[in-house]
Amino acid sequence: MKTETEWAELCGLLPSWLEASRQQAAYGKPASYIPELAHAPADALGVTIMAPDGQKISAGECGHAFTLQSISKVFTLLLALMDQGEEGVFRKVGMEPTGDDFNSMLKLELVEPGIPFNPLINAGAIVISSLIRGKTPEEKTERILTFFRTIAGDASLTYNQAVYASESATAHRNRSLAYFLKDNRVLEEDVEEVLDVYFKHCSIEVNCHHIARMALVLALNGKEPDTGRELIPRRYVQIAKSFMITCGMYNASGEFAIRVGLPAKSGVAGGILALVPGKYGIGVVGPALNDKGNSVAGVHLLQTMSEACDWSIF
Ligand code: DON
Repeated sequence: MKTETEWAELCGLLPSWLEASRQQAAYGKPASYIPELAHAPADALGVTIMAPDGQKISAGECGHAFTLQSISKVFTLLLALMDQGEEGVFRKVGMEPTGDDFNSMLKLELVEPGIPFNPLINAGAIVISSLIRGKTPEEKTERILTFFRTIAGDASLTYNQAVYASESATAHRNRSLAYFLKDNRVLEEDVEEVLDVYFKHCSIEVNCHHIARMALVLALNGKEPDTGRELIPRRYVQIAKSFMITCGMYNASGEFAIRVGLPAKSGVAGGILALVPGKYGIGVVGPALNDKGNSVAGVHLLQTMSEACDWSIF
């Protein structure tokens, strides 16, 4: 539970912490391999912290709209687990970090049996998209949207058409990963249809309040904050949080665990979803990225908050 002293300290200090972290944005730049993402304001930084009682603290550009990108992979994994069970999912993706970039294809060929190392790298998330129940890609996308709307507490959540089209037109690397997986028979469905589902869930548009709320559901082990209703089975949240610690920040996950010590997931639009177990959901956005694809100012801000409040789970 949150303590009133900690909450008061956060309310008082968050704006100055945010302005200090904003300076770090100068050391990164917005992703441009998806052309539409390159227009994002490089020095924007926003944060929302949400407590189980519904209280929120926000600072900076917390209303800035951005696309989930890889943050969506945590929730498609959860939906795939709910659709297929652990066995169905882990026949097709592994449980280990790679130490490589998020879009690397290196280990797919190097390590038998050629299944992606984990569900948070692109190859793994594309396989996960194929495991979502639905007769057509449209039905799968609709089920993903319905699930994400419930978790985010916003029935109007949808994908950004321009970002989707921009990624779909330029995703040569993801296409090659997917066709390789098809050749290995890891991907059994039509490649373009699976990719369409993947591009659409990566393009779902949110702000910091949405991801703080999505994080809070995970912080509460799958329970809806207002009602206590189970939205996701606890065991599956446990699996997702384990992946967030070991692979959530890709090949910077070790450093993030040491410096911040919280389950988190980043996306190339600059979002980071982080959670303090049992206590808070946190949404951060800062579009300038480091060379690992994580928000530079966002990571800095999370480190400042975690150190000041002693949030590391380790
Ligand atoms: O597939 C891609 O490359 C993007 N849609 C998502 C990658 C991503 O967000 C990696 N995160 N830091």
